[in-house]
Amino acid sequence: MKGKMVDKIIIRDAKTNELDPLLTINRLAFGSETEAALVRNLILDPTAAPVISLLAFHDEKAIGHILFTRAVLQQIPEANASILAPMAVIPEYQNKGIGGLLIKEGLKRLMEMNVELVFVLGHIDYYPKSGFINDAARFGFFAPYPIPEEAAAAWMVQELSDGALKKYSGRVSCADSLMQEQYWLE
Ligand SMILES: CC(C)(COP(=O)(O)OP(=O)(O)OC[C@H]1O[C@@H](n2cnc3c(N)ncnc32)[C@H](O)[C@@H]1OP(=O)(O)O)[C@@H](O)C(=O)NCCC(=O)NCCS
Repeated sequence: MKGKMVDKIIIRDAKTNELDPLLTINRLAFGSETEAALVRNLILDPTAAPVISLLAFHDEKAIGHILFTRAVLQQIPEANASILAPMAVIPEYQNKGIGGLLIKEGLKRLMEMNVELVFVLGHIDYYPKSGFINDAARFGFFAPYPIPEEAAAAWMVQELSDGALKKYSGRVSCADSLMQEQYWLE
C-alpha cells in the first residue's frame, strides 16, 4: 500500500461500544500501554468533557483515532479551549494522510462547538502541517507542567477564532487524567 489513500477513509465519532478497537489502535501505534491507558481514563473522566473521540476506518476496519478534551485557561475560565491528546494511526497505515484527516475533522468539530483555542504537545514538525504554531509560550500560553527549554517548540497552539491568540493568555489546565507530570515530560 503506497501513497496517499485519503479518498477511501471514513471518519466518524467513536461509539461507546468501540472502546476496544480504539485502545488497540493506540497500543499498536505507540507500542506501549501508556497512551491506551490515558485514552481509557480520559474517555471515562467527567472533567474531560466535552470530548471529541474520532475513529478513521478503511474498508470498515478501524485504523486511526484522535482525542480532544477540554482545556481551561486558569485565569480566564470563560475562554473555550481544547487539547489534542493523543492521536494514533496503526503502523501499516501511517504516512498516508490519515492523521491529517483526523486532525482536520477534529478541528471542524471544535469550530462547530465555538472552541477558540486548541493546544497540543507533540512532534514539532508534524502538527504545524495542520495549522499548529510551535512554542505556545511565546504567545503567553503555558503548559500545565513546565516544558524544558529545549522542547519548547513541542508545546503548540492554534486559534480557531480570529484574534484568540492575542485575546487570551495564561497557564492551561486539562482534565484530571491529563494533569499528571508523566504526560508532560517531552
Ligand atoms: C503521528 C501520527 C499520528 C501521524 O499520522 P499519519 O497518518 O502517519 O500522518 P499523515 O499521513 O497525516 O502525515 C504524514 C506526514 O507527517 C510526517 N510525520 C509523520 N509522523 C511524524 C513524526 N513523528 N514527526 C514528524 N513528522 C511526522 C510524515 O513524514 C509525512 O510528511 P509529508 O506529508 O511531508 O510526507 C502517526 O504516525 C502515529 O500514530 N505515530 C505513532 C504515535 C504517535 O506518535 N502519535 C502522536 C503523539 S504526539
